[in-house]
Amino acid sequence: MENKKKIIIAIDGFSSCGKSTFAKAIAAQLGYIFIDTGAMYRAVTLYALENGIISGAEFNAEAVVEALPHINISFKFNPQRGASDIYVNGEYAEERIRGIDVSNMVSRVSSIREVREKLVALQQQMGHERGVVMDGRDIGTVVFPDAELKIYMTADARVRAERRYAELKAKGDGVTFEQVLENVISRDKADMTRAISPLRRADDAIELDNSYMSVEEQMAWFMKQYEQVVG
Ligand code: DC
Repeated sequence: MENKKKIIIAIDGFSSCGKSTFAKAIAAQLGYIFIDTGAMYRAVTLYALENGIISGAEFNAEAVVEALPHINISFKFNPQRGASDIYVNGEYAEERIRGIDVSNMVSRVSSIREVREKLVALQQQMGHERGVVMDGRDIGTVVFPDAELKIYMTADARVRAERRYAELKAKGDGVTFEQVLENVISRDKADMTRAISPLRRADDAIELDNSYMSVEEQMAWFMKQYEQVVG
């Protein structure tokens, strides 16, 4: 793989679609860097929550914007996970960004223009040498409109809710399937209808519906697309 031209692989799509699992497998196969951009929006949200800038009851977008210069986001590769862990101002935050408080507030934080501008610039910097697989909502449309390979992932909302429900149940969470399904549907809507950089398929993106595909099947499909681009 080393002597092949390095490209940017943009993976966009709905939440709980298996984007990260797929992107991680691609990065391992090609020796690329995997960047989870959702983790970056979650990191800004975590900082705002932990520093009392926002709370469940109060949301002050201006205060979040004022805090932005004080938020430093970095990644460090964790060989055990086969992916990079996120750090906020040098502090490990990988697990805290997945908590329910962050999940509940991240859509609002990610719809603030200045937050997006800061994170998009950082993402462009991280990918400037290419050789990256980046997953998110606006990678193929805004961050890297010139990405050589763009994939738009979809999966049936019920299938996604079932996957998410199984994960939460395994963690001992008492939510019902209906609550999870409702959350999946409302997040889809928020992602697609927000004013700035809404989730949409780039004109040149290839669609992958993985509702009934294993990771192995997805990888076999991916390698065909990759070979067509890189040769
Ligand atoms: O992929 P995720 O669920 O961890 O993403 C968390 C949130 O961040 C989700 O509400 C969508 C938003 N997001 C975004 O607006 N743009 C991206 N490139 C990635 C995520």
